[in-house]
Amino acid sequence: MKKLFIVGNWKMNLTLDEAKILANKLRHGMANLNNVVDVGVCPSFIYLRDIYEILQDSRIYIGAQNMYLEKSGAFTGEVSGAMLKDIGCTHVIIGHSERRTIFQETNSMINSKIKTALSYELNPILCVGEKLDERESGKTEAVVGLQLSEGLNGLTSEQVRRLTIAYEPVWAIGTGKTATPKQANEVHSFIRKTVENRYGDDVAQSIRIQYGGSVNSRNAKELLSQSGIDGALVGGASLDSESFLEIVSDAAKLSYT
Ligand code: 13P
Repeated sequence: MKKLFIVGNWKMNLTLDEAKILANKLRHGMANLNNVVDVGVCPSFIYLRDIYEILQDSRIYIGAQNMYLEKSGAFTGEVSGAMLKDIGCTHVIIGHSERRTIFQETNSMINSKIKTALSYELNPILCVGEKLDERESGKTEAVVGLQLSEGLNGLTSEQVRRLTIAYEPVWAIGTGKTATPKQANEVHSFIRKTVENRYGDDVAQSIRIQYGGSVNSRNAKELLSQSGIDGALVGGASLDSESFLEIVSDAAKLSYT
């Protein structure tokens, strides 16, 4: 079994003090867990350095929630991969559905961001997922398939190995409605098959596919028990240290089985 990977996406939440308190609680809460699960947090850009300082000698990875596709230059208000690397990030979420829908990010932009992130040795967490009407009209595989084929366009097998893919059905994000473990597992199998068709079985088996969308301490265990689910990308429940640590602890227990 792969090591599960649990990531908290803090989105645009928390004051600086709240973020530091949360990071300290996670650091202490993780101290008792053996190295059986990978854990990361993705705070707001402007807190990254503070949180890095709190977590730098812990086993918790720091990731950003987004980055710009160009390497540097006149892009007022944007943050580059080099900057993220420079301040200690190891991961970056790319193509989150909120970026796709609210900020009109296209698959082609997402593809460029992945390439730029990889060029700085940042590990991308590529988010894919269908909207409710797409699911209801039977288009889930078509939508997710296109997000994968365009998002991964031009990447080598070695580059794809560095990715985590997060399946986040848009209708399950922040709504309290999770995909059933069976629904999630079906799409995870489809994602792995798609990667396998393009990059071979070895790459498909080596990448981790997280589930995201209303994951909490009550439903995490069942979701994470599914054979195709290798971790979780957690929004709301990652803002509370107890619920996030419970999810991490469930993941750790599953890693022993
Ligand atoms: P929620 O867990 O709040 O539904 O958010 C999921 C998500 O978008 C994580 O990236």
